[in-house]
Amino acid sequence: MLILAVESSCDETAVALVRDGREVLTDAISSQVELHRIYGGVVPEIASRKHIEAIYGLADQALQKAGVTRQEIDAVAVTYAPGLIGAVLVGVNFAKAAAMRLGVPLIPVHHIRGHIAANYIAYPELEPPFLCLVVSGGHTMILAVEDYTKMRILGQTRDDAAGECFDKVARVLGMPYPGGAALDRVAREGQEGKYPMPRAKLSGNPLDMSFSGLKTAALNLIHHAEQVGEELDIPGLCADFSAAVSDTLVPRTMEALRQTGMKKLAIAGGVAANSRIRADFEKAAKEAGAELFVPPLSLCGDNGAMIGAQGYYEYLAGNLADQTLNAFATKTLEGEAV
Ligand code: KG4
Ligand code: ZN
Repeated sequence: MLILAVESSCDETAVALVRDGREVLTDAISSQVELHRIYGGVVPEIASRKHIEAIYGLADQALQKAGVTRQEIDAVAVTYAPGLIGAVLVGVNFAKAAAMRLGVPLIPVHHIRGHIAANYIAYPELEPPFLCLVVSGGHTMILAVEDYTKMRILGQTRDDAAGECFDKVARVLGMPYPGGAALDRVAREGQEGKYPMPRAKLSGNPLDMSFSGLKTAALNLIHHAEQVGEELDIPGLCADFSAAVSDTLVPRTMEALRQTGMKKLAIAGGVAANSRIRADFEKAAKEAGAELFVPPLSLCGDNGAMIGAQGYYEYLAGNLADQTLNAFATKTLEGEAV
C-alpha cells in the first residue's frame, strides 16, 4: 500500500511516499529554520505562509523523485495534531484536497505517534509492544506502546519539554535557533562537574519529569556570570546541562521498563538525536538487558516518512477521516485517532 504522507506541524514542510509503513520511497523536506532564526524561535504566522508556498511543489517533487504517478497513491496520511494550528491546517487542507481529488482514503496521524513510528522505518523488525521515550521540542513523555495504535502515557513532563529547555539555554548562550543540536556539539568538548545542575524530584507519579527548575538554574548561572563579569567555561556548562537532562530522562525510562516488564525500548523525537542521551541509553539498556531502538538522526526530527509509517497502521486499524477533518493544536495521543 502506497501512502502519500504530509507533515506541517511546526517549521518543516515534508511530503513522503511510504510503502506498507516501512519502506520510504522518498521524503522531501523543506525546512524554514533559516527564516525563523533571526527571531530566535518559530513565528507561527510565517510558518503557515511558508508551508502554503512549499507544499504543492514539494508533493510534486516527492512523486518525481520516487518515479511514482498520482494514480499509484493508495491513501493520503497527514499530521492533524498537535502543533501550531495555522501550520497544521495547511497540511490538513492539502491532504483533504489530495485525497478527494485522487478518490483515496484520508488518514489522520497524531504527530507524536508519528515520531514513535520513525522507529518502524529504522528497524523493520520492531513490533509493539515496546516502551518509548518521546523527547521533542514540545513533548517529553514515556509511553507503553501496546499496539501500533494503542498507547498509554506512563509519565511526562509537568512543565517544559526537554527540547524547549535545550533551545532556551542555547539561545541565552548565543547559539542559533534551534539550539539543541549546537549545544550538544559544544557539550561534547566539555568537561563535566564544574557546574552542578539540579535534578528535580517530584511528588506523585515517579515517572513524571520537570525541566523548568533546571532551565532556570542554568539561565540564572549564565546571567549571574554576565553581571559579575565572570567568564564561563561554556563547553563545561553545556556538558553539565546535558548530563542533567539525560539524568532526568534515562533513569525514569528505565524504571518504566522495569515496571512494565517490557524488554524493548525505543526513543524518538528531535532530542533523541542528543549524543549524551543516546550514549546513556545505550549503557543503561545494556545493563538492563533490554533491546534498544534509536532512529538515525535524519528520522529523529520532524519528517514526512514517520507520518507515512504510522499512517499505514492507522489505516489498518480503520482510523480514517472524511472531509470534515479538522486540525488541533493539542490532542492526547491515547485512544482513537480522531
Ligand atoms: O521532534 P522535533 O524535530 O520537533 C518537535 O516535534 O518539537 O524536535 C525539535 C527539538 C528542538 O528543541 C531541537 O533543539 C531539539 O529537538 N534537538 C536537540 C538535538 N537535535 C535536535 N536537542 C538536543 N540535542 C540534539 N542533538
Ligand atoms: Zn516533532
